[in-house]
Amino acid sequence: MTSTASVLVTGASGFLGGHLTQTLVQQGLTPRIFIRPNSRRATLPLDKVEVIEGDLRDADALKKAVSGVSLVYHCAATMKGSKAEFFESNVQGTQQLLAAAQSAGVQRFMHVSSVAVYGPGQKTIIREEEGYDPFPQQRGYYTWTKIESDRLSLQFAKEQNFPVTVLRPGIIYGPGTKPFFARLHYNLKGKAHIVIGQPNALLPLVFVKSVVAALLLAGEKPLSPFSVYNVVDGAIRQGDLLERQAEAMQKRVRPVYLPPRFVGIGAMALETVYRLLRRGSPALSRYRVQRACQSLAHDTTKARKELGWRPEISLPEGLQQTWQWWTQHRAASPTV
Ligand SMILES: NC(=O)c1ccc[n+]([C@@H]2O[C@H](COP(=O)([O-])OP(=O)(O)OC[C@H]3O[C@@H](n4cnc5c(N)ncnc54)[C@H](OP(=O)(O)O)[C@@H]3O)[C@@H](O)[C@H]2O)c1
Repeated sequence: MTSTASVLVTGASGFLGGHLTQTLVQQGLTPRIFIRPNSRRATLPLDKVEVIEGDLRDADALKKAVSGVSLVYHCAATMKGSKAEFFESNVQGTQQLLAAAQSAGVQRFMHVSSVAVYGPGQKTIIREEEGYDPFPQQRGYYTWTKIESDRLSLQFAKEQNFPVTVLRPGIIYGPGTKPFFARLHYNLKGKAHIVIGQPNALLPLVFVKSVVAALLLAGEKPLSPFSVYNVVDGAIRQGDLLERQAEAMQKRVRPVYLPPRFVGIGAMALETVYRLLRRGSPALSRYRVQRACQSLAHDTTKARKELGWRPEISLPEGLQQTWQWWTQHRAASPTV
């Protein structure tokens, strides 16, 4: 294959991968992007990238994708599907991509993980050395497979002495996706926002361009073979976030906060029904509700010191940009 691409972006048709691809192109690079045959490509600069079509479940396509590149930004991850689809794409797919990258002589592999991998712990500020959630199977297939792919990426790095950097972003927001209101919430036709959780629960938010900046910095620096970084702009109280959103939207938002234990009772009933029918675990479990409503703040000292990373934008400005994008594009973007 004749190619000028030195970097590969998986998941380039997605929110984060799309922003990363645009930034690499703006820097004058011609990245190679790995997207599925049916992936949306309307916003991708197709004349300035090299496209390899394939699926994370296709080992041959992954080998083709990594051939000749020195840096892999692995942003792809399945967000919906059956248990098999989640495990085949997010866990086995990551394993196969790592093996293909190592065989192809890739010099650094950036794995996009999530702060969702951490356990409940007692700490108010979570550092990278905090352990994984001990009950991943109770967190839903997405988080479960993000935990397993984070774990296996670091294990592969250590066993194979292969340079892997794991970035753990918080909740990513920004132009290109729906405005974020709360982890668990329902909008009653714009009249009221039912929020499950407390107004003082802290949410770890990160602007999409802050994550792109961390990826680019980590791709440039000589780092230890297996480095892990939290990437969070800051923690904001859920109640304050709703107020900021209302300001950005110039609308009144009336939140109604439901204590998590109310929803926990419903989840418990669901768990009982599933147990009686021997159907495994329901998507909504008490543990999942408890974790989703937890107040979380993450320490980013490591990314600041070792990468020289800083948040790209203030929260009010980020929310404003997101809302502007959303009002202009929501009609044209049925999938977001
Ligand atoms: N968004 C957040 O708040 C957040 C927070 C923490 C971490 N993350 C992580 O950040 C990364 C990017 O997330 P995002 O928000 O950009 O998600 P997204 O918009 O849903 O993008 C996911 C990307 O993965 C691709 N993909 C999914 N399954 C695939 C498969 N089997 N084979 C090949 N490609 C596949 C999708 O392709 P299609 O376009 O074809 O569907 C899409 O390009 C993920 O690893 C996610 O876990 C996200």
